[in-house]
Amino acid sequence: MKAFNNNYIIFFCSEKEWIPFFYLFFITFAFHNNSMLTRIKELTELLHQHNYNYYVLDNHIISDSEFDKLLEELAYLEKEYPQYIQQGSPTQRVGGEVTKNFATVQHIFPMLSLGNTYSFEEIEEFDRRVQNAMLQKPEYVCELKYDGVAISLIYENGKLLRAVTRGDGIQGDDVTQNVKTIRTIPLKLFRDYPHFFEVRGEILLPHKAFEKLNAEREDIGEQPFANPRNAASGSLKLQNSTEVANRSLDCRLYMALGNKLPFITHLESFTKLKEWGFKTPETVQKCNSIEEIRAFINHWDMEREKLPFDIDGVVIKVNDFAQQQQLGTTAKSPRWAIAYKFKAKQVLTPLLSIDFQVGRTGVVTPVANLRPVLLAGTMVKRASLHNNDIIQQFDIHENDYLYVEKGGEIIPKIVGVELSNRLPNAKKVAFVSQCPYCQTLLIKKEEEVGYYCPNEWNCPPQVKGKLEHFISRKAMNIDSLGEGKIELLYDKGLVKTSADFYSLKPENILGLEKRTADEAQNERIVSFREKTTENMLAGIKQSKNVPFERVLFAMGIRYVGETTAKKLARYFKNIDTLANATKNELKEVDDVGEMVAESIVQFFNTVENLENIVKLYKVGVKMELDAENQTLISNVLEGKSVVVSGVFSIPRDVMKQKIEQHGGKNVSAISRNIDFVIAGENMGPEKRKKAEKLSIPILSETELEKMIFSLNY
Ligand code: IVH
Repeated sequence: MKAFNNNYIIFFCSEKEWIPFFYLFFITFAFHNNSMLTRIKELTELLHQHNYNYYVLDNHIISDSEFDKLLEELAYLEKEYPQYIQQGSPTQRVGGEVTKNFATVQHIFPMLSLGNTYSFEEIEEFDRRVQNAMLQKPEYVCELKYDGVAISLIYENGKLLRAVTRGDGIQGDDVTQNVKTIRTIPLKLFRDYPHFFEVRGEILLPHKAFEKLNAEREDIGEQPFANPRNAASGSLKLQNSTEVANRSLDCRLYMALGNKLPFITHLESFTKLKEWGFKTPETVQKCNSIEEIRAFINHWDMEREKLPFDIDGVVIKVNDFAQQQQLGTTAKSPRWAIAYKFKAKQVLTPLLSIDFQVGRTGVVTPVANLRPVLLAGTMVKRASLHNNDIIQQFDIHENDYLYVEKGGEIIPKIVGVELSNRLPNAKKVAFVSQCPYCQTLLIKKEEEVGYYCPNEWNCPPQVKGKLEHFISRKAMNIDSLGEGKIELLYDKGLVKTSADFYSLKPENILGLEKRTADEAQNERIVSFREKTTENMLAGIKQSKNVPFERVLFAMGIRYVGETTAKKLARYFKNIDTLANATKNELKEVDDVGEMVAESIVQFFNTVENLENIVKLYKVGVKMELDAENQTLISNVLEGKSVVVSGVFSIPRDVMKQKIEQHGGKNVSAISRNIDFVIAGENMGPEKRKKAEKLSIPILSETELEKMIFSLNY
C-alpha cells in the first residue's frame, strides 16, 4: 500500500480509503495549530511581563540570554504561523517597518507647553497666583524636567494605537512604528486600564546610548549629534524602525488624559500609570511649601550631573486635578504648572592652541585646547569647535578667553568670547588651508560646512582610520590587531590598505616595537613577540569567515553603516552586482537615499578601492552572501518585480524577505515595469491610484500566500 521516494510518502488507495486518513490529518493539523497558538500567546504574555519587570521596574528576574531565548522562540513561531501573531507582540520591538513620510495627525487635546523661568522669585510669584485663585492651600508635586522629545501615546483596549510627536501643539507626526521599538513604552497594558486614553511624556536618550551612537556615527563619517535631545528627536524621525530599535531610547511618562480617568490627583495618576505598565518619573516629591520647592530645585541643580540622562530643570505642578481645572490654562500653557530651568554651567578659560584633527573620511575638525578647568564635575581640557563657521562666528583670536558651557551637551561647547580679555595685538585664528598631516590643499564641498583633505590614500590619519575601522568589532572583528598595532605596522610601512593585512608574514613583524603614550601621557610599549604575532595572524586568517554584509561595512563606504551594509548585501547578494548598480538601483534598497547612493557609486568608481577589493577577494575574504542567506524556497515569483505597501500581519521586512525567498524582486516605486502590488492595510492612496492607472494588479496578503502555497505544495 505504501511506497517511499526521497521526499514524499505516496499513498495508493481507493477513494473511500482516503477518508480516515483525511480526518486523521485534519485533526492532527488542527491540534498542532491550536497548540502553536497557545504557545505564541503564552510567550507573548511572558515576554510582556519580563519586559515590564526589566525596563520599567528595573527588576531583573531572568537573565538576558533566557529572555533572548524566549524572544527567539516567539519570533520563530511567528514566522512559521504569521496568522497567530498577537497584536502588540514583543517581537515588534526589533522594528522592520520603513516609513518614507510621517503622516500628520491632529492631537485630541492640544499639547501645550510650560511657562518657564530661571528665577526663583518667579516661582514665588507663581505660588502667590495659585494661592490667590484657591480657597484651600494647594499641594504641589515637583518632578524633573526631562530634556528629550515630547510624545503623545494613544491607547485603545490596552494596546498602543498611535504615537505622535508634539509638532506645533495642534498636530504632530505619526511616529508609531518607531516608538514601538522603545522597550519602556508598553505595547500592551496589564489590567484595569481605561478603554481609551492618552499618555504624554518625554522620550530620552541616556548618556551611554548617546555616546555609543555618536561614536558609531563618527565611525561611518557622519556628523555626531550635538546633544542627546537632538539625537532622540532625530531617532524618532528615522525612516527605518530597525535603526530606531538599536538606539536604546528610553522614556518617562508624566501625564494621562481622557474621560473619567480613575484618579483625582497627579500623584495618584503615577501609581495607576505604573500599574498599567508605564515608566513614570522616579523622582517626584510632594511639596507643601515654597521652601520645600526651593530645596528640591537646589538639590537637583547640584545633583543633575549624576543622572544617567539630561534634565534641564524642575517642573512644579498643582497636585489636585480639581484645583488644576479651577486654575485653567492660557492659550499656551497651564496656569497650574511652571518649569524652573537650570542655568547652563559656564566657565571662562583661555585658549591655548587649536588642533586640526583629520578623521577617517578626511573631514578636518578644529579642537580647542583649553587651560584645564572644572565644569559641572569634570575637568575640561578640550572642546570641539566643529568647523570653520563656528570659528568665524565667534571671531576667535589667539589666547582669547572662551566661555565654555555644559548645558544639554555632554561634549563641552564654546559659547562665546570675553572680549575684555583680548590681548591688544592678538591674531585672528585662521582655519588651516593645508592638511596638517600631509600638507595637501584642503577642499570644501559647497553643500557641506566642513573642509576635508582629499588625499585619502596617503594621508596618515585617514589611512590609519580606515584600517582601524576595517578591524573593528562590528566589521572584521580582528581584536588581536588592536591596541596600537596598526599604528606600528603602518609606521613600518607594512600595511597601507586592508588587503595588506592578509599578506603579513611572521618574519616581517616578529620583534617590531614602538613606545607610545596614552591619553594620560603614560608610556606604553607595543611590541610583536612570538605569541602576539601568532595571535594576530590567526585573527587575520579567522576574519576570512566574516560574512559578506560585515565585509561590506568594513570597507568603510561613507554613510554605509552596519544596517545599510546588511540591506545592500541582502539585496545585491555579491560585490559584483553591487559595484555595477546604478544610483537608481541602489535607491531601491530601504534606507538608501540620494546621498548614500552617490557615495556608493563614487566608492566603486575609485580604482584604488576596486584594486583593494580584488586583493581581498583573492585571499579569500567573503564577497558574496553565504548560501543559507541566498537559498530560494521556490521560484514562484521569479522575474517578478513587486511593490509592497501598507501594514501586514507580519513585519514589512519579513514580507519583503518572503518575496525574495520565492524569487521575486522588491521595488519601492510603482512604474510600468512592476508586475504586481501587495497591498496591506492603509496602503498609500497615491500608490494605489498610480497602480490602478497603470492597470497593475493589486493583490492582498492572502492572495500572495495562496500564490506561494499553490505552487509550493
Ligand atoms: S508637564 C502642559 N512634566 O517640557 C504641558 N513636561 O514646555 C505639560 N517636559 O513640552 C507638560 N519634563 O515636553 C511636564 N516632568 C515634566 C516634563 C515636561 C519635560 C517637557 C514637555 C513639555 C515641555 C514644556
